[in-house]
Amino acid sequence: MIKVWTDAAEAGRLDRHGERGSTFAYQPGAPPARAVSVTMPVRLESWSAPFGLLPIFEMNLPEGVLRERLRLAFAKATGTFDEFDLLSIVGRSQVGRIRYTGDKEQLHEDVPFQSVDEILERRRGGDLFRYLLEKFASFSGISGVQPKILVRDDKAFAEMEHTKHRLSQSYKGATHIVKLWEPNEYPQLAANEYFCLGVARKCGLDVPPHRLAEDGMAMVIDRFDLRMEGTYRGFEDFCVLNGRRTDQKYRGSYETSVMKRFGQFANSTHVNEDMEKLFTLIALNCALRNGDAHLKNFGIVYDDVQGEARLAPVYDLVTTSVYLPKDSMALTLNGTTKWASAKELQRLGETRLGASPARVREVLERIDAGIATTTTELRAYLKEHAEFEEIGNRMLHEWEQGSRFR
Ligand SMILES: Nc1ncnc2c1ncn2[C@@H]1O[C@H](COP(=O)(O)OP(=O)(O)OP(=O)(O)O)[C@@H](O)[C@H]1O
Ligand SMILES: [Mg+2]
Repeated sequence: MIKVWTDAAEAGRLDRHGERGSTFAYQPGAPPARAVSVTMPVRLESWSAPFGLLPIFEMNLPEGVLRERLRLAFAKATGTFDEFDLLSIVGRSQVGRIRYTGDKEQLHEDVPFQSVDEILERRRGGDLFRYLLEKFASFSGISGVQPKILVRDDKAFAEMEHTKHRLSQSYKGATHIVKLWEPNEYPQLAANEYFCLGVARKCGLDVPPHRLAEDGMAMVIDRFDLRMEGTYRGFEDFCVLNGRRTDQKYRGSYETSVMKRFGQFANSTHVNEDMEKLFTLIALNCALRNGDAHLKNFGIVYDDVQGEARLAPVYDLVTTSVYLPKDSMALTLNGTTKWASAKELQRLGETRLGASPARVREVLERIDAGIATTTTELRAYLKEHAEFEEIGNRMLHEWEQGSRFR
């Protein structure tokens, strides 16, 4: 049995159910604001899934490398290790406002301190990657295939004293995400993402502060769900909003599963502004040739589960076609995953956004301009980093292909 907490208060209990399923019941008397998801209001009847976990509980389970590492470290003598076991391990430290503990336990987030500067400057030497994964894997309730961890920067509190915002000293949770990569699989992935996020920022999208390690081996990004008082905002990805399991993240269309769905859950006075950002992001994914813009790479954030939901800041932007030359879009647009043309994006903007043709054109031109400026920065970085030459040049080629919107 697992105890589920929202906003540091008990919400209910989660248990295995039947052969392979699970069931969740809210605590009697739980107020509506304690709902675990915008898709799961507080009610007397329990919520069940015939297989595995309900999407909101599955949302932050590590995939890929991190999952395999945890499986190896924690699989019982019998060799069994399911999602329930994984959630029990990483449940105390998660992206968003939900936490999980044992049935009789209290909350105990306490992520160890780790200097982010040490990671960026590689002061620890060659084995940093393995050290970080070993130490922080069980505090890393974060999804995704690429190796990554959640850390608590030992300078996060002091640094912010210089600004008006000061992170509460009672803060025990993770402050940053460290994204690493395996050299043999996706070389220079951190630099790739770093420059792609740079383009997004230039297009006027919200991008959390992010830094690239001096040797390009890691990218560190601030958590966008962190509040100054030491609590976290709600976050839900579009797998949850669509009621899908993680293994269905490549199913759906940008029109319905992303844009229309966002409109249904936004519940915000900023919906038009956010919808334009969402459209910009979809178009940007095409321009950057990111074939991994699936349902888990879009999300909403909120302070109150019953209140306004905003589009989450941008994350996970990568020119994937430098690794997979035949790559295409992760979801369909107009019934196909072929990279959308300027004309198709123009139509998407006019119909789903309801914007004037001139306004949509302006968005597409902003993307072109963002790519042009970042191209200059990328070229400068290339000059200093020979190891980035091959991937960097391929990125420039892909961006050129993708950004011919005019
Ligand atoms: N800055 C951030 N603040 C809070 N949560 C974040 C942030 N960036 C990413 N996340 C969360 O972490 C998850 C994993 O991050 P990300 O998508 O960057 O990893 P990935 O391994 O590249 O993913 P994929 O499997 O799609 O390739 C995201 O789906 C999102 O839920
Ligand atoms: Mg992702």
